[in-house]
Amino acid sequence: MTKKFYITTPLYYVNSQPHIGHAYTTVACDILARYKKSKGVGVHFLTGTDEHGANIEKTAKEAGKDPQQWTDEVAAKFKDLWKILNVEYDDFIRTTEPRHKEVVQKVFAKLLESGDIYKGSYEGNYCYSCEAYIDDKEATKDGKCPFHKKELTPLKEETYFFKLSKYGDKLLKFYQDNPTFLSPKTRSKEIINFVKEGLQDISVSRTKVSWGISVPNDDKHTIYVWFDALENYGSAIGMGEALDGNMENFKKFWPADIHLIGKEIFRFHAIIWPAMLMALGLEMPKKVFAHGWWTAEGEKMSKSMGNFVNPHDLIDKFGLDAFRYFVFREVPFGNDGDFSMTSFKQRYNSDLANDLGNLFSRIINIAGKNLEDKKIEANFDGGFGLTKNLPKISSEYDKYMEDLAFDKALETTWKLISDLNKATATHQPWVMVKEDKEKGVKFLKEVLVCLELVAKQVAPFMPDTATELKKRLATLEKGEPLFPRIQD
Ligand code: MSP
Repeated sequence: MTKKFYITTPLYYVNSQPHIGHAYTTVACDILARYKKSKGVGVHFLTGTDEHGANIEKTAKEAGKDPQQWTDEVAAKFKDLWKILNVEYDDFIRTTEPRHKEVVQKVFAKLLESGDIYKGSYEGNYCYSCEAYIDDKEATKDGKCPFHKKELTPLKEETYFFKLSKYGDKLLKFYQDNPTFLSPKTRSKEIINFVKEGLQDISVSRTKVSWGISVPNDDKHTIYVWFDALENYGSAIGMGEALDGNMENFKKFWPADIHLIGKEIFRFHAIIWPAMLMALGLEMPKKVFAHGWWTAEGEKMSKSMGNFVNPHDLIDKFGLDAFRYFVFREVPFGNDGDFSMTSFKQRYNSDLANDLGNLFSRIINIAGKNLEDKKIEANFDGGFGLTKNLPKISSEYDKYMEDLAFDKALETTWKLISDLNKATATHQPWVMVKEDKEKGVKFLKEVLVCLELVAKQVAPFMPDTATELKKRLATLEKGEPLFPRIQD
């Protein structure tokens, strides 16, 4: 049996329009999914939208729309963007779908029965942007949300609690036994310390929020949006049946191999979701990876600033693959990064137009004119010392891809491109073919083998470009410039 790989994005809230941040996570999953598929792994890639909660109800109201109509429209926008970004997901789940709601109610009933959920009352300060209570320990000195820097709203309500406190020690043991579960390592300490300080039970129902899934047999309450949304990772693949003991469908993909998320929602995925799974007696995901955040020209992106980097604009101007390349080459995956037009243009011109574009068009042009046999011979070694490095380069690349070190995987590939450009400048094949045709042809054949590897390695990042490069290599036709230089 081929190995399976179940990968998920967060479910995006439908209270904002999709922007570069959402695109970043989803394209990262797409890159990993494409890479795994290229290795023959059976990938299942899930994305979707998080559609319940007071915030979304409010946004819909402000737009003069019924929440369902609003969520339908915004969910469609997310799907459109994924299409434009060439994201090959397998399933798109919306939390308002019956297949999800049924599971969420079932889980609630089950945990109520087992005693992991109980009724009580809650008093605290609520952040509507997080859709979460923020305790005093977490709030900023002036009492605001540490993530959104917004005022908190004092609330008191009758509520159902999930016994998170019961799972602290089990979680700590799990982190210890599975050292790569919390990734990257630099972000794991924060989670471990938080759990070590002692977990409190969390409120998992709301009486003030009507736009949500009702608590079974108590529809005064709706289920807390996070408790609802996290379950998508299971509801999409048969967790409902699994809870009845029918594991067949669920086991095809579960456990998730990776939940890829942004750093601000690490705690939900690293603490609450695993504790829920423990309470349900289900297997843990293999890894939760939290990447960093993008700012725009040095500023935090926000609705009020109106400074969201819009992928549509960049794609219209510079092409999809330049966008996909830039965001993963510019910043080590896991770190925060800043998007600036200056660095975008610089990387485009130097890495794509010059290094990659020129190399291909030059070599293919001369090879097309001088090679009688256009078939590229695997591992051809013409004595120029280029192909002998390929196994090492390719295993380095694989290691980086497995580690989600996307910038490094690209760096390795661009080092090869740069070496090929240097060798081309040194050996001057256009002169060689005139002075010693056989030698010139050998050089070209060796470079072509290397270019095949380049095309393969850029494929997860720039799928259209890779298809075009492979086509040109197969026909040795130069074609139009792939990345025309950006003039200032
Ligand atoms: N609905 C919750 C997630 C529920 S998962 C069961 C949510 N949604 S969100 O729409 O706010 O999307 C958050 C995700 O979008 C982040 O975790 C991150 O993946 C991505 N990003 C949003 N803004 C971002 C940046 N500025 N930079 C990078 N990614 C960020 O939270």
